[in-house]
Amino acid sequence: MAREYFTHKGVLFPCLDYSPEKLSYVENEFQVRDDDIFNIAYLKSGTNWMLEILSLIRCDGDPGWVRSVLNWERAPWVESQLGLEAALKYPPPRLLCSHLPVQLFPKSLQRSKAKVRGGRSPADQGGGAGWCQLWSHRAALPCTVPYGSWFDHVTGWMGLKGNENFFSITYEELQQDPWGSVRRICHFLGKELSEEQVAAVVENASFQSMKGNKMSNYSQQRDEFMDHQNGEFLRKGICGDWRNHLSEAQSQRFDTVYRERMQGLGMTFPWD
Ligand code: A3P
Repeated sequence: MAREYFTHKGVLFPCLDYSPEKLSYVENEFQVRDDDIFNIAYLKSGTNWMLEILSLIRCDGDPGWVRSVLNWERAPWVESQLGLEAALKYPPPRLLCSHLPVQLFPKSLQRSKAKVRGGRSPADQGGGAGWCQLWSHRAALPCTVPYGSWFDHVTGWMGLKGNENFFSITYEELQQDPWGSVRRICHFLGKELSEEQVAAVVENASFQSMKGNKMSNYSQQRDEFMDHQNGEFLRKGICGDWRNHLSEAQSQRFDTVYRERMQGLGMTFPWD
């Protein structure tokens, strides 16, 4: 599906459903509320998985909401035009998503106590060979991939680490320990769930549950937004699939760029 893009403050965005005016509005005028919960991650980092987990935690593990309301209505992407409209109408407490790099995020966050969950993942999951190649070759350059460089995104948001209203978790941690991860997220949100409720969150947010839920698997997304001929959104849901897509040379190139960009930042990740 041919896509048109524009550059806003050095970052690439799709023309469909995004505009420089709305991005400026989001950055400068959108009012973050203290009771907002923001789910923020780079593309392909498990944003929608976390959206499902947060939706289920909100409902104490009851799957009624996730099975009856589309995920992008449960937690709109604030930077898209349709998402912004929905966010402005959303009765508090709002659950919102964003792929924005920190420098384009609403400035009003600095004055608020809104809870922010940042997600991180390397090129581990893939999304197809094209994505992996794009990622590995161009991840260091902000203008060549939508939403900018992964390195800028992660290092920018990790600058909030240590703030009491900021929580970060990796796709790998979610995979390795879903129960423990859900408990940690609940603790951060100040929401105590029973063991049964935590188990219900994990079960209803599992890859298979989400894949079979038309409210969460993007099968209902309009063709103009998603090329349904190009495979399903929930593709494999595993770590390490890059091995099937990157050549040895690409993998080495990626490692070199990764070391260059991440060294000295004092961050360690499960894949380091
Ligand atoms: P794959 O393309 O490797 O399958 P995002 O939502 O940030 O765009 O991330 C999309 C990736 O998260 C996809 O990876 C998708 O399958 C994976 N994902 C979504 N829900 C998941 C779940 N419940 N368990 C594991 N992976 C999940």
